Amino acid sequence: MRPCRVRKPTRIGECGRNSIDTAIEFVIQPMRAPRAGTAIQVVQCIYRVLSCDGMQTRLHKVLRVEGLTGASYVLWLEGPFSAEIAPGQFAMLRTGSDWPVLLPRPFSYFDVSAAGTAASFFGKAIGPGTRALAAVRVGDEVSVSGPLGGGFPAPADGEPEPVCIAGGVGLAPFLLWTKQRATTVLYGGANREAIVAMESFPGQTTFHVATDDGSLGFHGNVLELYRSLVAAGEVDQRAPVYCCGPDPMMEAVAADCAERGVACRVSLETYMACGYGVCNGCSVAVEPAERFGGKPWARCCIHGPVFDAAELKW
Ligand SMILES: Cc1cc2nc3c(=O)[nH]c(=O)nc-3n(C[C@H](O)[C@H](O)[C@H](O)COP(=O)(O)OP(=O)(O)OC[C@H]3O[C@@H](n4cnc5c(N)ncnc54)[C@H](O)[C@@H]3O)c2cc1C
Ligand code: FES
Repeated sequence: MRPCRVRKPTRIGECGRNSIDTAIEFVIQPMRAPRAGTAIQVVQCIYRVLSCDGMQTRLHKVLRVEGLTGASYVLWLEGPFSAEIAPGQFAMLRTGSDWPVLLPRPFSYFDVSAAGTAASFFGKAIGPGTRALAAVRVGDEVSVSGPLGGGFPAPADGEPEPVCIAGGVGLAPFLLWTKQRATTVLYGGANREAIVAMESFPGQTTFHVATDDGSLGFHGNVLELYRSLVAAGEVDQRAPVYCCGPDPMMEAVAADCAERGVACRVSLETYMACGYGVCNGCSVAVEPAERFGGKPWARCCIHGPVFDAAELKW
């Protein structure tokens, strides 16, 4: 399978189709050739256990669904969840019944209660999967496979605190981060309706908001907001940038950081099929490095979803 570039509109669709083909293959193989099918499933299970330390698949009861403006929502599920989930890790979600599509959908963990008795996911209803999850009711069940992937790293000794830049549901990975450290979050959206869920964040979070139409906060995009805050000295110009949102936004932020020699980490929202390294459906083009086995592509689900922006071929 050819790797996808990071940018969504070009070749991600091709990956999605390949992922679906792979998943269908897992389902129909046992019917065609029972032995081959069983072998595939055994290999898949071994791989899964080896590569996804601590991952579990469970059905969780829905505790509540908080409807927000702009078709966004926060879905609270009953535990148990690991209390060790790192900001930026994700899970594959599907409803317990009436799931309208073949594959589960990746969601960042939004919040996890201290003892793991509950966890929440922050979504926006944009397609069949996210709409089905928005429509669940209290007491329904949701299947969660996770935690998956790696999170945002803590800053090195002496390094300034990272500044977080989020667009839309790209805000999701940063709540767990802000619970650990006092952080400045720059949050951008198309309009006032798209700026949601800030009240879920702890008081030690400093928010700066940007909207494209100027209906709330800074009038412009979140990169322009970032530049203006750096120019005004309100954001440390040396602070590493942690970013999550639409690909064009992350690409622009990464380019800006590269120009100024500032470290930048991005959490990619690549289309995924398995979520744990088996199908290659989430491949992204990278600069070959040891951690990618020297290959020019990486699997977003296990090598990411958080990458050093310099590793990626945008
Ligand atoms: C690690 C990770 C964490 C994520 N966390 C969240 C989260 O916390 N909250 C949230 O709401 N979403 C999150 N997403 C994104 C979400 O999983 C996808 O948008 C998902 O495909 C939506 O499923 P759907 O069935 O509703 O819509 P789909 O039918 O899958 O998509 C609807 C439309 O959007 C397009 N589309 C969606 N995703 C992509 C893509 N990556 N590339 C190109 N086109 C795309 C489709 O082509 C389609 O037109 C995350 C993704 C990843 C990889
Ligand atoms: S989603 Fe299957 S390998 Fe990443």
